[in-house]
Amino acid sequence: MRNVVVTGGSRGLGLGILRRLTAEGYGAVAVARHMNEQLAATMEQIDQARPGALQFIPFDLAEIDDIPELVKKLHKDFGPIYGLVNNAAAAADGALAIMHNSQIERLIRVNTLSPIVFTKYVVRHMMADGGGRIVNVSSIIGFTGYSGLSVYAATKAAMIGFTRSLAREVGRRGVNVNAVAPGFLETDMTRGLEGDRREHVARRSALRRFAEIDDVADAVEFLLGPKAKSITGTVLTVDAGSTA
Ligand SMILES: NC(=O)c1ccc[n+]([C@@H]2O[C@H](COP(=O)([O-])OP(=O)(O)OC[C@H]3O[C@@H](n4cnc5c(N)ncnc54)[C@H](OP(=O)(O)O)[C@@H]3O)[C@@H](O)[C@H]2O)c1
Repeated sequence: MRNVVVTGGSRGLGLGILRRLTAEGYGAVAVARHMNEQLAATMEQIDQARPGALQFIPFDLAEIDDIPELVKKLHKDFGPIYGLVNNAAAAADGALAIMHNSQIERLIRVNTLSPIVFTKYVVRHMMADGGGRIVNVSSIIGFTGYSGLSVYAATKAAMIGFTRSLAREVGRRGVNVNAVAPGFLETDMTRGLEGDRREHVARRSALRRFAEIDDVADAVEFLLGPKAKSITGTVLTVDAGSTA
């Protein structure tokens, strides 16, 4: 059974990705700070069909110094890590001019520094184990503008630069590195967006609607699967045509 680690797998897009991967026969490990009802219910459901196929490891990804030990434990407990989906992220909406420096630092720590360090330790194992797949979750905000999201946008754009260069660096060792760039998704992260702004985003998309969590999970599954064996260093946009 191939194991995939999904950060931020406790709700939203991460949980959708885990549901898809376990349905497709992968072993999956969710890393997030807290267990919650949705995750517990999903684990129970999956356990009935495939006992142990979904595991949860509580961990605060902002604790950068503890990441090497976490990766060591993941490898020891679950064996070779075939896939890593860097999905966990925080979002903060607000004008840069009045944003606290501590908040700027936290966003960069959780969304950029943490996935880079996490990947560093996982990719070492992947190279030693003969290969693997990495999927970084970026956002269309990484390449289009959205007022109030400049710091978040910087962190998401960083994941694209990281994807492209790392793909070049580890390709000859059998590791593919790609990114997905979702458009607006209905999750806790976007709950604060008011009705009229939400409708405006949907109206501007080519397909006149939002992409769904399952659409992005499809893209991630594809990038982890055999049909994507010759794809690396790319960004797959899943936004119902918002940026078309
Ligand atoms: N929603 C959108 O419209 C949208 C659009 C484009 C891209 N994205 C990207 O998609 C990804 C998932 O977003 P989402 O909308 O599903 O977000 P979400 O609903 O807010 O979920 C975020 C996940 O990350 C985990 N997480 C947050 N901080 C963490 C930390 N310090 N340590 C460990 N886990 C942490 C959360 O679990 P805990 O709170 O339990 O730790 C949760 O599982 C993100 O990379 C986001 O940038 C989202």
